[in-house]
Amino acid sequence: MPKHIYIDNKIAPYKKKIQVSSDKSLSIRTILLASQAVGISKISNLLESEDVLNTLKTIKKLGINYKKKKKYYEIYGFGLNGFSPKNNTVINAGNSGTLGRLILSLLTKTDKKIKLIGDKSLSKRDFSRITKPLRLFGAIIKSKNNSLPVIIQGTEFVRPINFVENIGSAQIKTACCFAALNSPGITYIKAKKSRNHTELLFKYLKIPIKVKSIKEFDLIEVKGLQQYNAFNYSIPGDISSSAFFIVLTLLSKNSEITIQNVNINETRIGIIKILVKMNSKITLKNKRVYKGERIADIFVESTNKLKSINCNSNLNSSAIDELILCFLVAAKAKGISTFKDLAELNKKESPRLDITIKFLRMIGIKVLRNKNDIKIYGKPDLDLKKSFHVKNFLKDHRIFMMSCIAALALGGNWIINDKDSINTSFPKFLNILKKLGANIK
Ligand code: S3P
Repeated sequence: MPKHIYIDNKIAPYKKKIQVSSDKSLSIRTILLASQAVGISKISNLLESEDVLNTLKTIKKLGINYKKKKKYYEIYGFGLNGFSPKNNTVINAGNSGTLGRLILSLLTKTDKKIKLIGDKSLSKRDFSRITKPLRLFGAIIKSKNNSLPVIIQGTEFVRPINFVENIGSAQIKTACCFAALNSPGITYIKAKKSRNHTELLFKYLKIPIKVKSIKEFDLIEVKGLQQYNAFNYSIPGDISSSAFFIVLTLLSKNSEITIQNVNINETRIGIIKILVKMNSKITLKNKRVYKGERIADIFVESTNKLKSINCNSNLNSSAIDELILCFLVAAKAKGISTFKDLAELNKKESPRLDITIKFLRMIGIKVLRNKNDIKIYGKPDLDLKKSFHVKNFLKDHRIFMMSCIAALALGGNWIINDKDSINTSFPKFLNILKKLGANIK
């Protein structure tokens, strides 16, 4: 099987309804929370991608069983700190920063030594952001250069902590909430706003949590040592996966798409807010609430009236995985767009800020960079004719998928490497594109 794909034609106009894969953040969180619940949880529509399958493998290695049934996964929890690993167990988070960081937080009370490893990309990522608060809780952690492998051994007495999270990282915030579960007393977290799935799940599971919003921060209190019951959950579609089809439709000619059953949690829809400000036509239909999460069908039409944006960096966290797509839209919008405070983008599966700037310059777009701020000079008539080869991006799934969208919307002859990277988050990506009529070899 070739590891790269060829795209030589723009996608022809389409009018279609699709469903994308289930949400990755919710898939990983519900498995991990089910592993700490009392009894058998049932999770349906689980995303079956590598990051999520690695989450299942990880809880299994730590002594929690699961079974795949026809319509759902059953997870057999033994309550808080119900893991029963052997000493020196090695767990592998693969490509997933979320799994790697969150699983450590659930190990703050284990009496065994556990070693966490990951793939080449994850091994380059910073773990000090997580080891810092987890050491405050009392865990003993060894890691060289703040990266993987990390060896963790918990403590019998997990101290409740006061912690300020000022990056806007949901992984750090969630790790603090998860570690607090095993701590007597109340943990206080002042966290720059970021995706709030964990807080909503805690509320749904009746785990004592209070959240107060103060400007761009949330003040969170979690009361620990409260057992909670097993639960049923059906995972909605992922806005981050939907984003590729939203942008493809906007940038293509005479097309329309409805993406059904997508999680439109307020803390995840920065992309929609940004694109609407850029003059896109996006409608949220059939809105409903499921266990605290907002769900809708997203309707998008092509447009040739895109305009530039001076993007407020307060939107960065709610669009963190979609910013690279916003940059692509800016490349075809009228005027000069600015995006600021993008340092976090270089801390993802690959240095996405550096790579996307290189990518935009490759397709003839002027981009000026001042540290972590960029200016993108849009070309509304952008119509590519040349040949392009996208390679060397640490097998980053989102860079691969963004490149496919650029090729199908803007034209040119493309070779795009590392097709298998989509298995991380969205294995059905190429199949859905083909169903829309894309010619991909
Ligand atoms: C995620 C949080 C984000 C995001 C990642 C998933 C999560 O990372 O980029 O893909 O599920 O909590 P940060 O919390 O590091 O910003």
